[in-house]
Amino acid sequence: MKCNSLYIGTAVPNRVFSEWGKYSDVVTKSFNCFTPENEMKPDALLDGEGSRAALPESYTHAKIRFLSCEPIIKTAISTGAKVRLHTLVWHSQTPDWFFTEDYTDGGALVGRDVMLCRMESYIHDVLSYFIDNYPDLIYAVDVVNEAFDRDAGDDSGVRRKNNKWYATVGDDYYYQALRFAKKYSDGKFGLFYNDYACMYKPDMILSNLKNARDEGLIDGIGMQSHLTVGENLGLYFDAMKKFADAGYELQVTELDIGIKEKSKENLRLQAEYYGKIADGIASLKASGTNITALTVWGISDALSWRHGEYPLLFDENLLPKPAYFEFFPKLCGI
Ligand code: XIL
Repeated sequence: MKCNSLYIGTAVPNRVFSEWGKYSDVVTKSFNCFTPENEMKPDALLDGEGSRAALPESYTHAKIRFLSCEPIIKTAISTGAKVRLHTLVWHSQTPDWFFTEDYTDGGALVGRDVMLCRMESYIHDVLSYFIDNYPDLIYAVDVVNEAFDRDAGDDSGVRRKNNKWYATVGDDYYYQALRFAKKYSDGKFGLFYNDYACMYKPDMILSNLKNARDEGLIDGIGMQSHLTVGENLGLYFDAMKKFADAGYELQVTELDIGIKEKSKENLRLQAEYYGKIADGIASLKASGTNITALTVWGISDALSWRHGEYPLLFDENLLPKPAYFEFFPKLCGI
């Protein structure tokens, strides 16, 4: 579905493509872009064995492979859907060996210069693969994911805890990633910073991204939007406005809205909440805010990473939930 010039996406894991007959109708009727749920993350693309075997030549240039991306690429092309490249630089789902001297999990960490070379070659190789082979497929790239967190961060909020990018490159690792992405994206796709709980930290995000923004290294901010019914939507839309006022393109990248238990009343409240999100986005969009895409983080409750919270638009039988009937009409002005 493409409504009000907004791309509407869903996160799709490879197991959906292996049972495509079961899902194709639901997916293609409601969505026109896909985010691979895990298949384009560094732990899916980086090839540990290949990198170790190729040492010392691979020391600054780890090996990667794109096998995990084949199902989404094939289906996106055959259905005309666009794909979000999620994600290049993240503290999570990135193998420990990538940061060490000998490419083993227990090895000593490399220093800043080596890790910057590995970051540059990784970003170069992934972006070039898509530019060279599928030039029209990717509509946006999550260059950096989740780099700012008050509790897990340093004085500026840059995530230090459990973050090997911080441990090796240092507190400007997110800026360096944006710099390399800009260098190798050839103006082909929107370059995004993507984060959770954006509504609670918009100023921290904006101040940390300011240099990159001033230098033209970033296009937009992805608001993940893993929400729970009842969370303060005033804060949510205020954050959106702040980002838009600072000149960023906006995309909602991972929307899901949890409820505690699956009662009729909770499903109704969830529908109402989905409806308010849709209304808010449609009216911001109508008043000129640069929101270009909205992705729901999964298809059905059964597939959701938060499946105990029933957070999506389709139930376990792939039937539309009350939320579906509030969400799409309001979002698309039908
Ligand atoms: C989640 C996936 O949905 C899970 O399947 C996986 O086990 C962990 O990651 N923020 C992100 C997403 O940017 O990539 C995460 O996806 C959810 C939180």
